[in-house]
Amino acid sequence: MTRLVGVEHTRGRLAGPPLTPRTAVIWSVLRAELDRRGDTDLTVLDVGGGTGGFAVPLAQAGHRVTVVDASPDALAALTRRAAEAGVAARVRAVQGDGDALAGLVEPASVDLVLCHAVLEVVDEPEPVVAALAAALRPGGAASVLVAGRAAAVLGRAMNGHLDVAAALAADPTGSAGPRDTLRRRYDAESAAALLAAAGLTVEEVHGVRVLADLLPAVVADGQPAALLELERALAARTPWRDLAAQLHLFARRPA
Ligand SMILES: C[S@@+](CC[C@H](N)C(=O)[O-])C[C@H]1O[C@@H](n2cnc3c(N)ncnc32)[C@H](O)[C@@H]1O
Repeated sequence: MTRLVGVEHTRGRLAGPPLTPRTAVIWSVLRAELDRRGDTDLTVLDVGGGTGGFAVPLAQAGHRVTVVDASPDALAALTRRAAEAGVAARVRAVQGDGDALAGLVEPASVDLVLCHAVLEVVDEPEPVVAALAAALRPGGAASVLVAGRAAAVLGRAMNGHLDVAAALAADPTGSAGPRDTLRRRYDAESAAALLAAAGLTVEEVHGVRVLADLLPAVVADGQPAALLELERALAARTPWRDLAAQLHLFARRPA
C-alpha cells in the first residue's frame, strides 16, 4: 500500500516526489547528491527503472535520464508517464539487459546511476554491478536498492511460515528456494561487498521500510506522518537499519 504524506521541501529543483516509507530515505540521499552537484544538469541512468517512479521526477528536476529495462510494458508505461509530466524530451527508454550496458550506454558517461530492486531478480548480479560501475564517470555516484534478508526471515516467521523462514535463514543467498519470487537477498555487508568488488566505494547504507511492513495496517495507515518520521530516524542506525525490508547503498566510483 502506498501512503502519501506530502512532498519534500527542497532548496534544489527536485520539488515534487511524494514521500512514502518506500521512497523517503532514498530521495533524501539522492537530494543530498543533487544539492552537492548544484545547478548541473546530470546524466542519469536508471537500470531496471521500470515505469519511472524515480526517472520522471529526476527529469522534472532538469536531469537527462535513460531508463534501461528488460520489460517493454514497463517502458511503455514510463514513456506515457514522462509525456504526461511534460518531460518526454529528457527521458530515454531503452529496452535491454542490465549486464549489457556497454552496448547501450557510453562507458564513463553517467553522473548518477540508479539500480533499485533489480539485483535480487537478475540471473547474476556481479556483471550488472560491473556494468553500472563502468557506465559511471569517475566521481559519479550509484544508488542501489536491494532486498533485505533479515526482514524476509522475520516476515515469514511472523506469518507462521517457520519452515520458509528457516530455509531463508539457512540459504547462503537468502532465497527460500525455487518458489521464492526473489533469487537472493542481502545484508549490509554482503551488499557492500558486491559493490566494492566492482570498484565502487560505499559511502552510505540505509534501511528502507524498517517498520512499515511489520506494523498492523491500522497503525501504519492511522499515523502515516509519525511512521515516516520514525522510518527516517531509524534508517541509518543499527540494529534497526539491518532489519529493513530493503537496503539502500549509496556508492561512488573513485575520481
Ligand atoms: C521490481 S522492479 C523495480 C522497478 C524500479 N526500479 C523500482 O524500484 O520501482 C524490477 C525491474 O527490473 C527490470 N529487470 C529485471 N531484470 C532485468 C535485467 N536483467 N535488465 C534490465 N532490467 C531488468 C524489470 O523489468 C522491472 O522493471
